[in-house]
Amino acid sequence: MNREMIVFSGSSHPGLAGAIAERLGSRLGRSRVVKFSNENLMVRIEDNVREKDVFVIQTSSSPVNETLVELLIFLDALRYASAARVTAVLPYFPYCRSDKKDEPRISVAARLMADLIQAAGADRVLTMDLHSPQIQGFFRIPADQLLAAPVFFDYFNEVLFKEESKEDFVLVMGDHGAAKKFSYYFDELQLPVAIMDKFRPDHTEKPVIRQVIGKVRGKAALIIDDEIASGGTLVEAAKFLQKEGAKRILAAAVHPVLSGRAVESLVASPIERIIVGDTVPVRPKVRDHADRFVLLDLSPLFARAIQCIHNGDSLSDLFPPSVKRRA
Ligand code: R5P
Repeated sequence: MNREMIVFSGSSHPGLAGAIAERLGSRLGRSRVVKFSNENLMVRIEDNVREKDVFVIQTSSSPVNETLVELLIFLDALRYASAARVTAVLPYFPYCRSDKKDEPRISVAARLMADLIQAAGADRVLTMDLHSPQIQGFFRIPADQLLAAPVFFDYFNEVLFKEESKEDFVLVMGDHGAAKKFSYYFDELQLPVAIMDKFRPDHTEKPVIRQVIGKVRGKAALIIDDEIASGGTLVEAAKFLQKEGAKRILAAAVHPVLSGRAVESLVASPIERIIVGDTVPVRPKVRDHADRFVLLDLSPLFARAIQCIHNGDSLSDLFPPSVKRRA
């Protein structure tokens, strides 16, 4: 786009937004969020954005509903301030697990989020590893989905497979959904796969693992999932894998939501290393367990994508061929 670019950060993840801006060689735009005594928010854009190509970075993180409303007000303020084009950058998409009507009389909240973001003034959306691909189709504006896989592949190849022979590993998909979503992991890594047969009997965030499909005995099991919320899936999966004779258990997930007592449960589990992206700010206690958690920097991927969108270049060139088919 033949206009000046300017990147703003909402208050949800200033660390990631700052790293992205730095990689783009620019400073973050100035803005101010005021919270009044009645809990209403006001966003004031402190830089001129008239006729500019604007990006606003706001991930879904605690307090989730407040950061969401802040984003909507931010988008509205940018529109009133005459920005030429506004891209909402959502590293972790809000309400992404509410993506279908699988119970009577419930909302498809992820679609509602898409409606709200468009209505508030976004011209485009940039996000990462959606819980399910249909969310992209909830938008009637361009919505680009980045996949964190290349960054994870680099870590696996440069660290994990140097510590232990790659042939010792089996990829364990956290559930049937993960097996479908992450099938490019098998193509790229050329490793055997096992799938956790998981179901959720209710909304207590206590999943039940019925069986593991595939061979894990004597293997280093590397569990792959899109997000860690309560940690229940990983903890139950790890117990099951241990019982089935896996010799080591590791896990990788893009979005470290780590709600409630997730960190404590994971630290007490047999998972020796948990590799996560930085789409959501992690609590200080994650850094206290630096021996168990590895945080991968996804800011270079976001910065390259923002530059591509600004220049009008293809985003698929950011991914290896196996991933490109899904991006
Ligand atoms: C499945 O629904 C997702 O892919 C993740 O497995 C899930 O979001 C993890 O949630 P939790 O950590 O609460 O089990």
